[in-house]
Amino acid sequence: MNTTVKIDLRAAASFVDAASLTLWHEKAVNALVELESRKGAGNDFLGWINLPDTCTDAVRHELKTAAGKLSQGVDLVVVIGIGGSYLGAKAVVEALSHSFTALLPQRKHPLVLFAGQNISEDYHAELLEVLNTHSAACIVISKSGTTTEPAIAFRLIKQHLEEKYGKAGAKNRIVAITDKARGALRTLAEQEGYATFVIPDDVGGRFSVFTPVGLLPIAVAGFDIDALIEGAAGMAAHTAAKTHDNPAVQYAAARNALYAQGRKIEVLVNYTPKLHYVTEWWKQLYGESEGKAHKGLFPVGVDFTSDLHSMGQYLQEGERHLFETVVSVAQEKQTLAIPHDAQNLDQLNFLAGKRLCECNRMAELGTLLAHVDGGVPNLRLEIPALDEYHLGALLYFFEKACGVSGYMLGVNPFDQPGVEAYKKNMFALLNKPGFEAQGEALRKRI
Ligand code: PA5
Repeated sequence: MNTTVKIDLRAAASFVDAASLTLWHEKAVNALVELESRKGAGNDFLGWINLPDTCTDAVRHELKTAAGKLSQGVDLVVVIGIGGSYLGAKAVVEALSHSFTALLPQRKHPLVLFAGQNISEDYHAELLEVLNTHSAACIVISKSGTTTEPAIAFRLIKQHLEEKYGKAGAKNRIVAITDKARGALRTLAEQEGYATFVIPDDVGGRFSVFTPVGLLPIAVAGFDIDALIEGAAGMAAHTAAKTHDNPAVQYAAARNALYAQGRKIEVLVNYTPKLHYVTEWWKQLYGESEGKAHKGLFPVGVDFTSDLHSMGQYLQEGERHLFETVVSVAQEKQTLAIPHDAQNLDQLNFLAGKRLCECNRMAELGTLLAHVDGGVPNLRLEIPALDEYHLGALLYFFEKACGVSGYMLGVNPFDQPGVEAYKKNMFALLNKPGFEAQGEALRKRI
């Protein structure tokens, strides 16, 4: 029995009766069969299902070698990408890093920073300011090779590196990850002679964390990509089972059952800030996969206990159109106990000697019970520890459940046609050649 991700639905049981949940389980198993038959909608984007098995020792060796080469004599690596071309790496690096890694006096590996995930002038100007006083390299990632945000950031970083290290020096500090043949980034990489990695045709951005898109930045940050892939491979085998105890089936079934009852919002809850970007990654995965045809749970996230002091009131007593999914980590890495204080002015001596994780656990259990009492169904996922192996398992679990859940909802979980609308308007307003008429029409509405 694989216990890397334990699912507990007891705190949702009073909201969905057992008989109807069994029916939802059956629907989820059917959706899993459809997914694995590779005959469903979006079946040309199912390469992610087998990524943990196809990421062989040789592939990982190549990635580790490239990471080592890029890191030589470098203290900052800027990873340029947006959406699925950045969130997987960001999620894993943040989850596994020391919380104050940027302030540690000595680091064995370069600090990984991100760019091109927005077009803020302040953000990029301040990044360039920092790069002036550091030795930097860059990984530029774009599957299409034509996305505006990373393309703008890459222009800036490329210019900076070329001015600082010369064209030849800059070339050795840049790795491009893109389509094998198409797109402006592929053309540029070949023309400039950058080292490159390929994003497989059949893997969409938000499912690409186990390709070089996620693995190269993660390896640069010094994390064990072998263990990450091993965790994902174990979960791939576990979630292939066409049974009701498959955790991906259980999660997909429970969230669809709740959605059908009018619970339109899923709130992903964590109790460690290290999981903040895992939540951001999950939001993209589920939002972009399911939000179509005017359907789909709206995925949001909270960081507890911080957000109990901002969102806690709404969650306890606001509109009952939501449910929570708690991601819990059983064991923290560090050990820290609350000290005794002779004066006890804060009256906390009843906690003296207790570890912070014990307080956090009681906050978690207390919140879960309070929210259930307040009418909020709770699903709970637990991983034993926040390390590469269990994170690999958790991310793969969410991917598999997302494919199953999307098919249950009756949408194609592997496309994102709606993302184009804003791009067309932005190009039109920026006077991109070919968009003149649309630009004129839009300006009349502003
Ligand atoms: O999941 C997706 O497909 C998107 O989020 C893309 O990853 C994102 O739009 C970036 O696209 P690209 O990698 O083509 O620059």
